[in-house]
Amino acid sequence: MILVTGGAGFIGSNFILDWLAQSDEKIINLDKLTYAGNLQNLSSLIDDPRYIFVRGDIGDIILVKRLLIEYQPRAIINLAAESHVDRSIHGPEDFIQTNILGTFRLLETVRNYWDDLQDAAKRRFRFLHVSTDEVFGSLVQNEPAFTEKHRYAPNSPYSASKAASDHLVRAYFHTYGLPVLTTNCSNNYGPFQFPEKLIPLMIANALEGKSLPIYGDGLQIRDWLYVADHCSALRRVLEAGALGETYNVGGWNEKTNLEIVYTICSLLKELNPHSNFHDLITYVKDRPGHDRRYAINAMKIERELNWKPMETFETGIRKTIHWYLNNQQWIADVQTGAYREWIDKNYAGL
Ligand code: NAD
Ligand code: DAU
Repeated sequence: MILVTGGAGFIGSNFILDWLAQSDEKIINLDKLTYAGNLQNLSSLIDDPRYIFVRGDIGDIILVKRLLIEYQPRAIINLAAESHVDRSIHGPEDFIQTNILGTFRLLETVRNYWDDLQDAAKRRFRFLHVSTDEVFGSLVQNEPAFTEKHRYAPNSPYSASKAASDHLVRAYFHTYGLPVLTTNCSNNYGPFQFPEKLIPLMIANALEGKSLPIYGDGLQIRDWLYVADHCSALRRVLEAGALGETYNVGGWNEKTNLEIVYTICSLLKELNPHSNFHDLITYVKDRPGHDRRYAINAMKIERELNWKPMETFETGIRKTIHWYLNNQQWIADVQTGAYREWIDKNYAGL
């Protein structure tokens, strides 16, 4: 079996659902259930014998040690993190705790477990660390996209904490030989994304007739990847990635924030011609230290592991909008906090 951390979050829940749709290999999901963890995303698995949920912190050495000994996973996929840049600006401490200290403790616990494994199990074991393109900092217009060799220059408390975790993962490979893999991915979008991030926030606000806040001039550029493509890249890296290597993962979809928001407004208008969503666009104060542009060169993973994204932005954003339109109760439950009650009802005592 494999152990996924942060599996109740956006990418984690997509990863678990995708994994179990394609394989019968069991998954343990270790998640602390911060505000970003939503077990409703995985409600379809509640009686599935292939899925085990454990509420806990990646930094809880005793708990993680117990899970490793009891379940003997062949791999860890480390998705647990504080992930929202704006929150890291208002309160960096949780980011340092989970992304740096938590990753360190997880690595240390996993190293002790891996050290004691015997031959084949030891050779087969993998620690896949899921990171971000934000560790590379900001690009100017026309500068070549980030390759794996780009120097680290993180600019927010979030990206600095992810950069620190990447360095720790690297050090555990070089110093202790722990069989690690790291991926650095661009902006994901798709089902189950918490409506604090750009795309789900804009869809949710537009549906409620609320303003669509554009930070600064809205000309910041991100590369966008549909979340199912990220999940397939993670599976591929886990299966065939070379130990100690890092792989950039991206969608070849550089867009300004304004382009994204205009596209969402136009697609919603197609479905609801009487509303003028574009009128809701409102320019607001810029994010402090706002990175201007990210762009991913994903040639290494294509060349070495034969992975490419399946979705274009045009297909992915349509699927995403349809998902949010069909799951307005999910948005409402997140907004009202009802998703937390669902946890209490279905996982009493956790
Ligand atoms: P998310 O915020 O939606 O989910 C994070 C999950 O981690 C939540 O379920 C939360 O409860 C859990 N968690 C937080 N602290 C924990 C702890 N100490 N112990 C155990 N669980 C904990 O995040 P996401 O968008 O799904 O991102 C997942 C990972 O992918 C993160 O490491 C993030 O840095 C990385 N990433 C995200 C994106 C993106 O666009 N969302 C892009 C590249 C990389
Ligand atoms: O690049 C990968 C990263 O993408 C991940 O590592 C992070 O976990 C993920 O949160 C994301 O970070 P961003 O800061 O790029 O994502 P966010 O959705 O917060 O913002 C995307 C862009 O949209 C950014 O330029 C800020 C802008 N924005 C965002 C919000 C929420 C707005 O203009 N208005 C908004 O209301």
